Amino acid sequence: MVGAATPTSAAVAATVAQVVPSTGSPVVVELGPGTGSLSDGIHARLPAGARHLGIELGADMVAHLREHKPWLEVVHGDAGDLVSVLAEHRIDRVDAVVSSIPWSLLDDEAQGHILEQAAEVLAPNGAFTALTYVPAERTRNARRFRERLHETFDEVLTHTTWRNFPPILHYICRRPLV
Ligand SMILES: C[S@@+](CC[C@H](N)C(=O)[O-])C[C@H]1O[C@@H](n2cnc3c(N)ncnc32)[C@H](O)[C@@H]1O
Repeated sequence: MVGAATPTSAAVAATVAQVVPSTGSPVVVELGPGTGSLSDGIHARLPAGARHLGIELGADMVAHLREHKPWLEVVHGDAGDLVSVLAEHRIDRVDAVVSSIPWSLLDDEAQGHILEQAAEVLAPNGAFTALTYVPAERTRNARRFRERLHETFDEVLTHTTWRNFPPILHYICRRPLV
């Protein structure tokens, strides 16, 4: 479920935070915030009046986040329920979806289901980001995920952060095609 041996590094967090708007009143949703290693960088960049939700499946992670990151709206739930979670929180558009769930371990159906919802909730200028491990990129599920990103978004950019073990591949996607 976690799909990681260690939390991601500060270098990864710094790259991820760049997709988050620093002005206005943006809404940012993190899928799988875990212990919150990306959440701090995102929080530091967000303006007052922003909303920052984290949807996390692991009960122990949820308890940790609620104790240590009081500014994060933590939802104990499944990223696969993104649309209904946002409706419950009266959110109708999202400026950035930051996902670090273990995409390459998800089966085809689960990947598609979560990705469709992320594309559906994004604002027109919104960004979807996903993190995967470079060494996992050759697996079938990772290849399928990459293809699916290209089927779902008009723009798919990549960036590698080598200062992480293992190195991280970032996908930064905009303009959903659906
Ligand atoms: C690799 S960890 C990433 C944690 C942290 N964001 C980081 O980058 O260090 C993946 C996290 O996603 C959570 N997760 C896995 N599947 C999920 C799902 N379907 N919905 C919500 N969270 C999920 C796991 O419980 C875990 O906390």
